[in-house]
Amino acid sequence: MCGIIGYTGKRNAREVLINGLSRLEYRGYDSAGVAIVEDGDVQIEKKQGKLSVLAEELKRSPLQGTSGIGHTRWATHGVPNDVNAHPHYDHRKDIAIVHNGIIENYQELKKTLQTKGYKFVSETDSEVIAHLIADLYTNDLCDAVKRAVKKLKGSFAIAVVHKGEQGRIVGARKDSPLIAGAGDGEFFIASDIPAILEYTNKVIYLENGEVIDLKEDGITIYNSRGKKENREPVIIKWDIKQAEKDGYKHFMLKEIFEQPEMLRRMFTKRIKNGQAHFEELTFSKKELGKIKKIAIVACGTAYHAGMIGKYLLEKIAKIPVWVDQASEFRYRDPLVAKDTLVIAISQSGETADTLAGVREAKKRGAKVISICNVVDSSIARESHGVIYTHAGPEIAVASTKAYTAQIANLYLFTYYIASARGIKGLNEKKVFAALKKIPGHAKNFLEQHHSKKNKISGYAAKFHEYYLARNNKSCFLYLARNINYPNALEGALKLKEISYISAEGYPAGEMKHGPIALIDENPWVVCIATEAATHDKMEANIQEIKARGGIVIAIVSEGDGLGEDKSINYAIEVPRVPEILSPMLVAIPLQLLAYYVAGEFGYDIDQPRNLAKSVTVE
Ligand code: F6R
Repeated sequence: MCGIIGYTGKRNAREVLINGLSRLEYRGYDSAGVAIVEDGDVQIEKKQGKLSVLAEELKRSPLQGTSGIGHTRWATHGVPNDVNAHPHYDHRKDIAIVHNGIIENYQELKKTLQTKGYKFVSETDSEVIAHLIADLYTNDLCDAVKRAVKKLKGSFAIAVVHKGEQGRIVGARKDSPLIAGAGDGEFFIASDIPAILEYTNKVIYLENGEVIDLKEDGITIYNSRGKKENREPVIIKWDIKQAEKDGYKHFMLKEIFEQPEMLRRMFTKRIKNGQAHFEELTFSKKELGKIKKIAIVACGTAYHAGMIGKYLLEKIAKIPVWVDQASEFRYRDPLVAKDTLVIAISQSGETADTLAGVREAKKRGAKVISICNVVDSSIARESHGVIYTHAGPEIAVASTKAYTAQIANLYLFTYYIASARGIKGLNEKKVFAALKKIPGHAKNFLEQHHSKKNKISGYAAKFHEYYLARNNKSCFLYLARNINYPNALEGALKLKEISYISAEGYPAGEMKHGPIALIDENPWVVCIATEAATHDKMEANIQEIKARGGIVIAIVSEGDGLGEDKSINYAIEVPRVPEILSPMLVAIPLQLLAYYVAGEFGYDIDQPRNLAKSVTVE
């Protein structure tokens, strides 16, 4: 949700800012802008549209200078246009700010400032920050920011420059992420690491309530009480290549293809001597053994991974589990207490509702473990314990490898907690040996779909033709049972996110209770019919769909009796594995189908409309 960056050093600030913003565009992409300080002036260039529009504009009139701030926006208050784009000036154009988050008391602050004569030009909540800092400014930008943030309610990560203080950038954060980078005689501030990783791998994570002062000669951090904090930078081990497309047309495709190696690395790291290990988890097995129930809290794709976790934990660890969308959990007085383990799942570790869920659970005395991809993210830091998925940076807005990484970690955690609970007959050695084969199966499957023209892309092309031939009248229904039911929801979510086609996921057993009414020759129905205890029931569902003229794409186990010549229109075979291990493999064709359908429509796959990678507003 909006990306911010700041730079001070000896380089051309415009180039550093645009480069950094290009790596933050996944956070928002409806407008972008930069502010550069030079010769006692703050100059702003900002444009509605993707970053490329701003970059083109800057080629025509390049701003010069060696320090500045930049922003890529995901609109909350005010439509995407040039005026609402960041940075925002104060009324005298002395100060420029960029902001990620929502200022909840902006109306109140705005009224007070207006009565003092401050003129507002945009519809944003953010502009108030610029005027407020100007109002409190007395020759020291850091001092003014420290005083201003005390008056702000809501969430924010900000970066601020002043025309009279060239080479200085002041930042602050509360409930929105902000990191700083220390280079050789140059310093950075950003929403996320990829924005600065090309220049430095020395990163400082800012805590909630902190203010950071960057000057050409160094960084100073102040805590919420205004006291200086000494903090050594952390060395980031991954490199910028991991945040690049590496020859793939889109990040989404690259990330789909990264899954086998990512899973292989994870299982090698986590499974030792036939046991699951989580060295970063500071919980003792004894503590875990005392847990009586589990609540899983997450949003979107992570929520679907959590649903798979419920099946696993109840079946194997024999513990009652419920799964809540974080936005519901936080407002519905959930029954969590000391005997409850809350598992918060989040790729970004910054999702506002999930973070609020973590806080709510802690308030009620529950133990909280998070499963996060982004190291040291807010959710990871605020939980009592964290399991990192180590899937590497996920740049495409539609989540793929983070999902399978979350599921894989849930498998391992299930066995970890089951053994802590003294469950007998876990047979971990055998199960883990089968689990370790999943990356190889995924690799084989993906190799068959490596060429541009593969089976799934062919089905996508057929759907596209069909859709156009019917005057854009078609939609998708995804059906599955048992542990693959969450995959039906996930398949539908992937498709709607990037192809804007209406898609619904349903437990196949519920088909007769409503969705069957949708079936005529229009919807395409994806049926997950891999080897399973309920396989016969899925076959019956397929017959019922066919009898009503529906078009079926079935995901089946390799060599299965269901063939294209029989009742299914189209079939995708995945390697045959035990039902309980199948969700990680089944997810892959669903991801590819969504990817190829969106490609047929020519949509911007990595940056779908209205979405942002990290939802840091409620
Ligand atoms: C789906 C997607 C979103 C996220 C959701 C939670 O492709 O990306 O639904 O899964 O916004 O995000 P995290 O996992 O970062 O909390």
